[in-house]
Amino acid sequence: MANPKCLKFIVVISSTRHGRMSDRVLVQALKSISEQGHEYTVMDPKELKFPILEMPIHWYPDKTKAPQWLQDAEKTMLSADAFLFVSGEYNRCVPPAMANIIDHFGPNVFTAKAAGIISYSLGGGGKNVGLALTAMIQELGGMVTPAQCCINFVSTKLTEAGEFVEPDSADATALWGRIQRVVKQTAWYASAFNNQRKEYGDIPS
Ligand SMILES: Cc1cc2nc3c(=O)[nH]c(=O)nc-3n(C[C@H](O)[C@H](O)[C@H](O)COP(=O)(O)O)c2cc1C
Repeated sequence: MANPKCLKFIVVISSTRHGRMSDRVLVQALKSISEQGHEYTVMDPKELKFPILEMPIHWYPDKTKAPQWLQDAEKTMLSADAFLFVSGEYNRCVPPAMANIIDHFGPNVFTAKAAGIISYSLGGGGKNVGLALTAMIQELGGMVTPAQCCINFVSTKLTEAGEFVEPDSADATALWGRIQRVVKQTAWYASAFNNQRKEYGDIPS
């Protein structure tokens, strides 16, 4: 029987870079979503190959005139119960591939939807992009969970296959706990929004 609490996560990743770390972090993010009984679709800029923004979909007077790839992408985004942003940090900010995906959509996609953030850096940083993304998602009406997870020195913690380098270490256990916490909180808020929509309809505009 299908799990009635199963939610659909749209997971957006941030990098098209050769040798990107996003694939490593994604493995753990998706594992956490699956283990908690949820489904996901990944929005990967390397596969989607969105052009640099020419026109956001909500700016088309008639959305059926938007390119088909953009209409399809909006349909996917709108199918989300919850979002998870898995992002590296570029110049203390949101990488262009991630910002470019987000900028193609309007508040209709994000409003009253829960969003979790898992950020990472090759160095000691990663927190700043969490803050920058929070501002971006909130501007679009989304609700970022209080729990965030920042993975610094990511290449020393996750292998190329995305597994923990030292799975039995206290560090790995704590990190896995933080990843799970982000996903759990995102699911909790997403369910709360779904229940609220059932009871009261859409949020007043
Ligand atoms: C253009 C650029 C800017 C960066 N700026 C920062 C930064 O401000 N803070 C930081 O902690 N790491 C920074 N880094 C390092 C990235 O966090 C690191 O390379 C990470 O692996 C990027 O994600 P990716 O591998 O998925 O592309 C930067 C990397 C690039 C390519």
